[in-house]
Amino acid sequence: MFENDKKIAADEAIKYVKSNMKIGLGTGSTTKFFLDNLGELIKDGEIKNITGVPTSKKTEEIARSYGIKIDNNLDNIEIDFDGADECDIYGNLIKGGGGALVREKIVAYNSKDVYIMVDESKFSEKLHNFPLPVEVIPFMEDITKKNIEKLGCKCSFRDNKNFISDNGNYIIDCRFNYTDVKYEEEIKMLPGVVEVGIFKNIATKIFEGKNNKCNTISIRKL
Ligand code: A5P
Repeated sequence: MFENDKKIAADEAIKYVKSNMKIGLGTGSTTKFFLDNLGELIKDGEIKNITGVPTSKKTEEIARSYGIKIDNNLDNIEIDFDGADECDIYGNLIKGGGGALVREKIVAYNSKDVYIMVDESKFSEKLHNFPLPVEVIPFMEDITKKNIEKLGCKCSFRDNKNFISDNGNYIIDCRFNYTDVKYEEEIKMLPGVVEVGIFKNIATKIFEGKNNKCNTISIRKL
């Protein structure tokens, strides 16, 4: 479902990649379309010398297989290319559906531009569709979950604690009626929380694949 729209968004985003760039490489099925495009262009010699900062072990593996140089130094990342679980017109994002939110947030915050590729099902007027992922340390994690629930959401451990992030932590999925961006700070302050999947006003462009076309939305930083 929506696979074609994800591909359309990735086909538009790839147009912004030029030889010799250092870029952030997101995680997920939409970013996979982007990486496949990049791999083809590198193979055909149309794009050369790309350095990528990957946001997950899986993305790193794919990028290496396409001849992208891997660098985990966060200096001078020109554009971070990633997907999202939900986004709005202000460039606010919910991320972490694939469990890579910690590295994704570090890379996004250290990139000059953040280009997000989505299909139309991800775009919302208010963030409310996708449960908010929160990464927590595996120590007294049930107490951490209770503390998050005090903010008025229903929480569950992803895959009953069987899902472990690349950083060795659990993910708690939190269902609010509406995910106000203020929860980023409120949840992050709780002991045991590593990172919150709210990325506030971070996208500088959103590519939305919709009805076989791509809407490109440029967003001003607030
Ligand atoms: C990974 O942790 C996520 O933030 C992904 O970027 C997000 O879940 C989007 O994934 P898809 O492109 O697979 O929908």
